[in-house]
Amino acid sequence: MKIGFIGTGAISEAMIRGMIGCAGHTEPIFVSKRSATRSARLGEDFQNVTVIEDNQEIVDQSDWVVLAVLPSQAEEIICDLSFRSSHTVISLVAGLEMESLVHHLAPASDVCRIIPLPPIEYGVGPIPLYPNQPLVADFFGKLGTVIRVEDESCFTVFSANSALMANFFEWTAWQARWMEKSGVARDEAALYASSFASGLVSMTTRCDANQLQALSAECLTPGGLNEQVLSDSRRMGWFDLLRPPLDAVLSRLKKKE
Ligand SMILES: NC(=O)c1ccc[n+]([C@@H]2O[C@H](COP(=O)([O-])OP(=O)(O)OC[C@H]3O[C@@H](n4cnc5c(N)ncnc54)[C@H](OP(=O)(O)O)[C@@H]3O)[C@@H](O)[C@H]2O)c1
Repeated sequence: MKIGFIGTGAISEAMIRGMIGCAGHTEPIFVSKRSATRSARLGEDFQNVTVIEDNQEIVDQSDWVVLAVLPSQAEEIICDLSFRSSHTVISLVAGLEMESLVHHLAPASDVCRIIPLPPIEYGVGPIPLYPNQPLVADFFGKLGTVIRVEDESCFTVFSANSALMANFFEWTAWQARWMEKSGVARDEAALYASSFASGLVSMTTRCDANQLQALSAECLTPGGLNEQVLSDSRRMGWFDLLRPPLDAVLSRLKKKE
């Protein structure tokens, strides 16, 4: 199966590295001759990646086409392209809903949306998929946790939640800075903060929905350190602080749809 990428940005590179490095994809991959340094690097690093200047040629040569351009660019770019009915088209474009996609991509009818995240490069992380396309689900199952979403408005909620990614990294980096300011060597602080995040996150991935809600309570020794910080944080409204920005992202995405 030949896969073409329209747009060779950050997420395309992570996907391609994951496809080849984790999923063992050896068949041809075509990428736009855009983001010149990145596309050239991919072409140099992988024998099966070819850089192509013309978007239509990428589409013509591919069985699956991944749309990986910015939301502001997407509709104009796909309007200029012709698809075959046999194409499978996978859109990463936030806020570009199925109705518009199907309209612009006709006669291609195997159209779906996914929300990959950068750790797809390492074969981990969530990959919400809408609507369910069994072949796409199987393929991306080698690259992370595929979540088959049945409703497009719920898919938009997944998209909004992905906006917390930078906060997660900033929060982990903040902890390293706090430890460093409190006297710990920079490298040790970074090692602790990153290992702390990955260790705790790996516990969450073993939980079902109820266990997930119970995890924080399980850390609370009565009168202990975690109980002190959690109750102070709740009193300060720490968790509720993120509700308005997340709601705002959700409204922004819904307005586009
Ligand atoms: N980054 C993430 O973690 C993530 C996660 C999920 C979904 N997404 C979605 O994925 C899409 C891409 O995001 P990104 O972060 O990878 O953005 P990005 O790094 O800015 O990449 C956008 C790419 O589109 C290219 N491009 C612009 N005009 C083009 C054209 N006419 N033909 C072909 N390519 C063109 C850009 O090339 P130039 O650099 O040469 O302009 C660049 O390679 C967005 O819609 C975003 O919502 C991103």
